[in-house]
Amino acid sequence: MTFLYKADPNRGATWKKLLAREMPELPFRIWPDIGNPKEVRILATWQPPLDLTTQFPNLEILFSTGAGTDQFDFAAIPPTLPVVRMVESGIVQGMVEYVTLAVLSQHRDWRTYQDQQRAGTWQAHPVRPASSRRVGVLGLGNLGRAVLDRLHAFGFSCAGWSRSPQQIYDVECHHGPAGLQALLARTEILICLLPLTDSTRGILRKRLFDQLPHGATVINVGRGGHLVQDDLLRALDAGQLSSAVLDVCDPEPLPPEHPFWSHPKVVLTPHIASMTQPETAVDAVIDNLRRYRQGLPMIGLVDRARGY
Ligand code: GLV
Repeated sequence: MTFLYKADPNRGATWKKLLAREMPELPFRIWPDIGNPKEVRILATWQPPLDLTTQFPNLEILFSTGAGTDQFDFAAIPPTLPVVRMVESGIVQGMVEYVTLAVLSQHRDWRTYQDQQRAGTWQAHPVRPASSRRVGVLGLGNLGRAVLDRLHAFGFSCAGWSRSPQQIYDVECHHGPAGLQALLARTEILICLLPLTDSTRGILRKRLFDQLPHGATVINVGRGGHLVQDDLLRALDAGQLSSAVLDVCDPEPLPPEHPFWSHPKVVLTPHIASMTQPETAVDAVIDNLRRYRQGLPMIGLVDRARGY
């Protein structure tokens, strides 16, 4: 049985060291050094090879090295092969930091003060209590919940939306198509933390922006495919949205002439909100391998019908 890692080789070297400590009996290889392909039972990758099944006929588990699996072509993955998303505390911590930074910057008018500094303007604006600032999160998976937990600690008025009903202490939870309308109507800062599926692709579009209060902010830390870019530009230019923070886009990177690069109301970062941390990722993988061996469900196992 071989564990094959096919992603950034420098990070792979750390995976190798950490796994060797916990599971010294498990042979670990880093792509392209695949050894005997018939021996490969576990593959951890961001992007599987195109001929996955012919190349590795005895594969038992496919781990994504990232939180999402939308980059996988599921048509090329046998339906019986377990696919597992990366659920690990390093990703959660990074996401909580990034979203908190974006929300607080918006809440405390950071961009306005930077503009004022450059213009030599000394002018204070009223500070609104966090409790009066209505923040809403789309997607109540482990990332959405962790973000809400931290924002709630700052005192923000928090709400969330998910496909199916959820309950979170002190968070107004909405679900389903009707619930989305209710969430948007009360949300001044909207955070997208949804998985990218057929039903969420393009969800950040005109119809959604129009349902937010005038001057709302959108933070997209999901996937570029969630956003209809032209609709965002129009909503910003019309003032329906006051700003957007985008950590993801489609394609990545955007072409040099794309208007988001220089738009005064857009903050664009290069998909760095959150990154898998080898130390905690390896712990999560080991935990899942133990679960698998004991016949227990793995954490982050993808439900193909649901799409995440
Ligand atoms: C990054 O976007 C990830 O899926 O981990």
